[in-house]
Amino acid sequence: MTRLLLRHARLATFDGASGWGLVDDGALLIDGGHIAWLGADAALQACVQADHEINLQGALLTPGLIDAHTHLVYGGDRAAEFEQRLQGASYEAIARAGGGIRSTVAATRAASETQLFADAANRARTLHREGVTTIEIKSGYGLSEEAEARCLRVARRLGAELPITVRSTSLAAHALPPEYAGRADDYVTDACHWLAAQQATGLVDAVDAFCDTIGFTPAQTTRVFEAARALGLPVKLHAEQLSNQHGAALAARFGALSCDHLEHLDVEGIAAMKASGTVAMLLPGSYYFLRETKLPPVAALREAGVPLAIATDHNPGSSPTLSLLLMLHMACTLFRLTPEEAWRGVTVNAARALGLADRGRLAPGQRADLVAWDAAHPRELAYRFGHNPCRRVWCAGVESLPA
Ligand code: NIG
Ligand code: FE
Repeated sequence: MTRLLLRHARLATFDGASGWGLVDDGALLIDGGHIAWLGADAALQACVQADHEINLQGALLTPGLIDAHTHLVYGGDRAAEFEQRLQGASYEAIARAGGGIRSTVAATRAASETQLFADAANRARTLHREGVTTIEIKSGYGLSEEAEARCLRVARRLGAELPITVRSTSLAAHALPPEYAGRADDYVTDACHWLAAQQATGLVDAVDAFCDTIGFTPAQTTRVFEAARALGLPVKLHAEQLSNQHGAALAARFGALSCDHLEHLDVEGIAAMKASGTVAMLLPGSYYFLRETKLPPVAALREAGVPLAIATDHNPGSSPTLSLLLMLHMACTLFRLTPEEAWRGVTVNAARALGLADRGRLAPGQRADLVAWDAAHPRELAYRFGHNPCRRVWCAGVESLPA
């Protein structure tokens, strides 16, 4: 394995509890896909020897971005539903009338696995071109044993064939498929059984559910989480998105990695998340696209010391964005995160939301997932929008975009 030395970069390490962790005119040595050394270029010792050197000429070098909440694998689109919503129909009303998630389920079931892979790979590449090196992908548009497994297989194949890391999450408890109409408890029973096979075939890293009035009840969510726990799988939850079901406190009781959305989160939920070390995954894309007006309680989460993360929530219904950089910006403008909080939300705290300790910071021993940006300071990336200054990307030390 070659040793690669990146020189004359401004490092933003995010190492330590706060601050950017800037190293001006820094250098970073990659060995065996991991960071072996970093520091001031002037402090480079003769012992830091490399097979190959790259002069980054003052570029900003950061950890690879982590998009820790996506629904990347699906068929069709929901542009017609977007038009309906612009004419006044609500997201919930469309869902109750059998549209919404269920219309994407029909399109996903009708698509071939080859087509699902090709479409999802294009989406993943778009994220990657903006510096994303790790992506979480949920199932949840198949909603039968075979269709769910198909989506999870596509996610696994993306991780195997693209340079990025993919973490896959089973989200069978996303919506009630039409063949189970009026039998939600039976569906949950069956979905819990599917989990064992998904785990046995290595298809799943975590388990999610949608706990809301158009999703599943807290009691049904509890059953899904008990099945996950019995299999040793970590959980996370779409919680308090459209209403307060006290899902965050429920998920915290199961030691959830993250609770996601959280617009309707209350003080008890915040305290429970703090106690369990659960990450608050904020999703400005769906907040914006659904034209929500209730903001997640960011100040209270901050005050409580709950770690904040940011993701695209890419999906065809509530957040059809493929720009994590735009989310970085919108987390600041819409949710009032500081640029540093937003950055931690797509690096170190996003890694934590996936249970990954080997990435999200620049430090010796961390995976060499790196991005060189045409920017002088990371705050510039939160400030601009509709702008992609990503110049070079390395995944586990291997350059993955054309230089
Ligand atoms: O994260 N809330 C549930 N799931 C998605 C939306 C899925 C859809 O509308 O297709 C979300 O917003
Ligand atoms: Fe989601």
